[in-house]
Order: sequence, then C-alpha cells, then structure tokens
Amino acid sequence: MMLEREQQLEVAIAGLKRVKLGYFPTPLEPLPRLSAALGGPPIYIKRDDLTGLAFGGNKTRMLEFSMAEALARGSDTVVMGAAVQSNYCRQLAAACAKLGLELHLLLRPEREADTKEIQGNHFLQRLFGAQVTVLPDNHRAAQQAAIAAKAESLRKAGRKVYVPRQPDTVDLDAIAYAEVALEITRQCRDLGIQPAYLYATAFDTTQAGLVLGMHYLGKPMHVRGITPTEMPLEERQHKMMVMANQGAERLGLEIEFHATDFDNDDGFIGERYGVASPAGVEAIHLLAKTEGILIDPAYTGKGLSALIAHIRQGKLDKAQPVVFLHTGGAPALFAFVEDVLHL
Ligand SMILES: Cc1ncc(COP(=O)(O)O)c(C=O)c1O
Repeated sequence: MMLEREQQLEVAIAGLKRVKLGYFPTPLEPLPRLSAALGGPPIYIKRDDLTGLAFGGNKTRMLEFSMAEALARGSDTVVMGAAVQSNYCRQLAAACAKLGLELHLLLRPEREADTKEIQGNHFLQRLFGAQVTVLPDNHRAAQQAAIAAKAESLRKAGRKVYVPRQPDTVDLDAIAYAEVALEITRQCRDLGIQPAYLYATAFDTTQAGLVLGMHYLGKPMHVRGITPTEMPLEERQHKMMVMANQGAERLGLEIEFHATDFDNDDGFIGERYGVASPAGVEAIHLLAKTEGILIDPAYTGKGLSALIAHIRQGKLDKAQPVVFLHTGGAPALFAFVEDVLHL
C-alpha cells in the first residue's frame, strides 16, 4: 500500500512542468553530537540548505515548478515582494538570473538595520541583478498594492509579467514539499529508522506540502510546524489546508484536508518575526559548535529551538528518532552578526 502510494505520488509530480535549479535528493543525516549534547533521541537533519542554488534553501524546490509556470506563460519579467532578508527573494533572484528573467523586488524593512545595511540576502539579491526597492515601512497591505502597481506599469510598458505565489499557483510551491515527504520517507527506510516526528520551521507552503505528502503516504511521521510569524493560527491552518487541497487536486490525488491536519506551534517566535530570539540564538550556537552546520535567526534557529525545548521538557521518546528539516536561511546570518555574537 505504502509503496504503491509512493509510486503514485512520484508519477503525479513527474507530470508537472519543471525547470532544473537544484540538486536532489538532499542528504538525510544523523546529528550524533547534538543528540548527545541534549541527552535526547537520535536527531536526523534533512539538508535542504544543500539544494545548491545560491546557498540553497526550501525555495529552490518551489521555484523549479513556479518558474516553469512563468516560462510556460511566456513571461520575461518577475515582480515579487517579501522582507529585506527574504531567502525566497535571494533564491528567486538567482533563478531569474539563470533563466534570463528580469526581476523587480519590493521589500519590507523588518528591522532598523534593514534600511541601512546591505548584507546577507539583501546583498545577494542585488548581486544576482534584481532591481530592489526597499519600502518605507512594514505595512503588508501597502506592499501588496506596490507590487500590483509595479506589475501593472511594467505590463503597460509591454513586459510579460509573472507574480509568483498567487492563489492559482501557490500550490505548486506546496507540491515541491510533498516531494520532500516522499524523499524523507524513502531515506528513512534506507537508513532503517522510523521517526515519529518531523520538525520544520514552517507555516505556509512548506508545511502544506509536507502534510500533503505525508498524509497521502499513510502518515509515516507527524509533521510539527514551528511558525516564525505572528499570523493567527486559524489563518495559518486555513491557508495550508487550501494549498494542500489545491495541490492534491492538481496532482489528481484523492485526499482531502481539514484545518486541524496542520499542527503549527507559535510558541517560538520570540519578540516578533524577523527579530532574533534568545532560544533561537542558542540553537544556532549549539548546532554550529556540535555539528558544524549553520542555521539562521529568523527561521531555522527558531524551529530548532522548539525541538531543543521539547527534548529538554521530556516531550519526545528518547528511543525514537526525530527529523529536523533544515529549510536554509544561513545567508541571513551576515545581517545578524551583533544579535548572534551578542556584541
Ligand atoms: C529558511 C526558511 N525556513 C522556513 C521558511 C518557511 O517556509 P514556508 O513559508 O513555506 O512555510 C522560509 C520562508 O518563508 C525560510 O526562508
């Protein structure tokens, strides 16, 4: 049954348009020194920081599908917005460079430093040739209006504009992570392990896809998403449910999701989105010093801090392996040196 489902999921995904941007499968490997330092269960890490495009990360996989869609629509220009230190925009900028697409980014300065310094992802977005505008403030509605206006003016000038992650295409990003569910399931079988939980910093496309894949495969492990943003739980769950259902429909899979299928924890955000948390900084140091692996203050540090806290609180069975999904983000470290080193 499980093998049959794996085959069905693989064939369904193989039917989608795709451009090659990364290198897959990424490794799934043990973290013995981190496990020992925590006195916890065997911890495995899924290295999606090693997807290969512009320092890697979870968006590389998503862009393989969404950029194929942009090319199929005959687009020559892409318009996108997120935060200044957006990992998505760094990987998108690299993808656009590789595919010969013009990119316009309209970015929110989440922190005072973001308006002044050009570091980390912000530096790389510019290096890949994106035309970057840093907006005056953090208002998301104003940012959406600015993106729509930019896209409109470029269309009037004769450009064929693609705006990623719109309601009719965002499930493509989620589908990329249904494929990761498949990869992890197969890699666990090869390693002879049966983890109970998969931890990931996620609240959106990544978790929607992981749950889509894992549920279709008969729930080999439970996906525990740790959100880095303050969006209300009902809204997060609703968004993920809609994406997973849309993705399942696109893939022709007979499965239906409900909001409660998405376990998403908002206990590790710290002060707010985009600002380093003390527990996240501790996680960054611990992983760096025990395993030589880099994570970041805005996303993966917060996700790993949840796993660390749950191990310390005795919430996980010591005999059962657990998987942490490294979704990338380390280039942002260079914009957070003071926070991470407590200068
Ligand atoms: C490093 C990193 N981890 C996790 C996430 C969360 O992914 P998603 O928005 O698909 O849930 C993001 C992007 O938002 C990210 O850049």
